[in-house]
Amino acid sequence: MRKKVTIVGAGNVGATAAHWIAAKELADVVLVDVVEGIPQGKGLDLLEAMPIEKRDSYIIGTNDYAETANSDIVVITAGIPRKPGMSRDDLLQTNYKIMSDVVGKVVANSPDSILIIVSNPLDAMAQAAFRQSKFNRERVIGMAGILDSARFRAFIAEELNVSVENVTAFVLGGHGDTMVPLPRYSTVAGIPITELIPKDRLDAIVQRTRDGGAEIVKHLKTGSAYYAPSSAAVEMVEAILKDKKKIVPCAVYLQGEYGINGYYVGVPCKLGARGLEQIIEIKLTPEEDAALRKSADAVKELCAVIGV
Ligand code: NAI
Ligand code: 2OP
Repeated sequence: MRKKVTIVGAGNVGATAAHWIAAKELADVVLVDVVEGIPQGKGLDLLEAMPIEKRDSYIIGTNDYAETANSDIVVITAGIPRKPGMSRDDLLQTNYKIMSDVVGKVVANSPDSILIIVSNPLDAMAQAAFRQSKFNRERVIGMAGILDSARFRAFIAEELNVSVENVTAFVLGGHGDTMVPLPRYSTVAGIPITELIPKDRLDAIVQRTRDGGAEIVKHLKTGSAYYAPSSAAVEMVEAILKDKKKIVPCAVYLQGEYGINGYYVGVPCKLGARGLEQIIEIKLTPEEDAALRKSADAVKELCAVIGV
């Protein structure tokens, strides 16, 4: 039987995620949004591309959650994006209201689904969805680390003029200004980048990674990034649908791992058919550990504001 993925929010990230899923023929897709016409129009447009792309994914757009029933995965992108001058945290109250509205409807229609949360501020929204859904932590996973590390990888590849395929990189922590890129665990064809890039250049690349979201907002002016974010969310969808056991950085609910208890923070995870299948604990230096804790504290502060 074909897999079914619902995407809530048919805006930039949601519609582009639908595009990647259909182009890879990973599943049938239901696009849902509160705005009438937008999900229907985008869904139909994408469906009409399938004969050209030779893909048999079936796509529909709707405002009715009944159409989402029994989805295997639900990707939640509903919410407002930031504009120039705004931080991700400025979206907190508005997106928390939207998340609360959405999660209830998703759970009622797809009680066995796995939720991938994208809306910002990411870690707090994942925590809100986890609390409200009452799903176990294996089935509520936040997307941020794949995006942040993809930005890091792109900048490293550009700096060294090497294929992006040669570059692996890790970014831990919350999806915000306190995120923790880890040069020590980032390599080019297995060679640590600390051996290949001088410290001042590496520091600049780390800072550009931290500011990666804001750099795109500054260019676009009317919204935030969506090609790389949707590609990152779909890497998670693919890892789960194909039971790939893929190790990627995701925001997950920590229960003592890395000395953090009761919060969503980005750490290396194994994704497979059950969703989160394992959290990988790597050794951190005291400085890296302190940076991760600072990042977790920033998540805690946001969660306290909305009481999740
Ligand atoms: P967008 O404005 O293009 O799309 C958001 C969509 O959500 C709109 O179509 C809107 O009508 C819909 N929506 C609003 N309330 C809704 C509700 N109650 N039910 C269903 N749909 C609803 O925004 P974009 O660029 O797609 O970003 C979406 C969210 O994802 C933002 O919060 C943004 O900050 C976040 N984001 C997170 C990233 C991450 O790394 N975790 C990366 C990029 C974006
Ligand atoms: C980003 O990092 C907006 O969080 C989003 O691009």
